[in-house]
Amino acid sequence: MTSPDRPRVVVTRRLPAAVEERLRSEFDARLNPGDHPCTTAELQDALRTADGLLPTVTDRVTAEVLSVEPRRARILANFGVGFNHIDVAAAKARGIVVTNTPDVLTDDTADDAVMLMLMVARRAGEGERHVRSGAWTGWRPTHMLGTRVTGKTLGLIGMGRIARAVAKRAHHGFGMRVIFHDPYPPAPEVAQQLGAEPRARVEDVLREADIVSLHCPATPETHHLLDAARLALMQPTAFLVNTARGDVVDETALVAALEQGRIAGAALDVHEHEPRVHPTLLTMENVVLLPHLGSATQESRVAMGLRALDNLKAFFAGQSPRDRVA
Ligand code: 8YV
Repeated sequence: MTSPDRPRVVVTRRLPAAVEERLRSEFDARLNPGDHPCTTAELQDALRTADGLLPTVTDRVTAEVLSVEPRRARILANFGVGFNHIDVAAAKARGIVVTNTPDVLTDDTADDAVMLMLMVARRAGEGERHVRSGAWTGWRPTHMLGTRVTGKTLGLIGMGRIARAVAKRAHHGFGMRVIFHDPYPPAPEVAQQLGAEPRARVEDVLREADIVSLHCPATPETHHLLDAARLALMQPTAFLVNTARGDVVDETALVAALEQGRIAGAALDVHEHEPRVHPTLLTMENVVLLPHLGSATQESRVAMGLRALDNLKAFFAGQSPRDRVA
């Protein structure tokens, strides 16, 4: 049912039923029951006809999209903590408010990173494929030996909320030594509590770590942060884990490093050209590939939706939304 006095909100993808129900009760919500990714024209139409948008990572909200005239929308309440798919500078310049959904997905995304670390080190994907293919002939002492994680050195690139949750798990759960680099590091006592030691440069972390896990946002500065030269600094026995954003890694350089045995393996939840995955990665047994599952639990996705909804409610009530990023 529509109502002229309720703000109109376009929700670009299907959300958990509980969230859609709340959105319908609070707003004149335009949902996407077919769940198709929005085209540029559809995003522009939404900006023209709605008061706010609730976009996701699959919407490219570029400066061009935001330039549509006349525009009615004044807020983009992103579903997700990362907002590199939104041209925030262009939104800011046009006075469009942008919000995200931090905190609520931290633990699940940290779990995803730990799961990937274990999967790649203990050859879990490979083992599963082996069993399912019918090739398994039985237990033997030398079969599919992996790498021990306990006690090893975990190198974190970025030390924000998710990295800290990973550090906690790794240090307290697996007795790992944790090192990190972040241009905006946490207070020394915070790092100390996590058993995490700062390093001055990304390169220092790459040289020292047995497992490198990426936790920085995707910005122009972090685009291809892990290029051929930096990948070459990693130990040949080391693994790379990425739950951040695909384009933090130069995927072509990663494929070359894996092909040449310059690193031992990679576990990727995110990909440079999602949903396309580099064809060579698909053939590699020492590579774990997941379809961007970091926050994919019922609990996180409901909480993310409700957090975006709270941001919209605050905005339309004339207050400053809690998670404003622009
Ligand atoms: C989301 C994510 O699934 O929050 C993020 O930044 O990468 C994921 O957890 C996705 O962004 C939803 O739009």
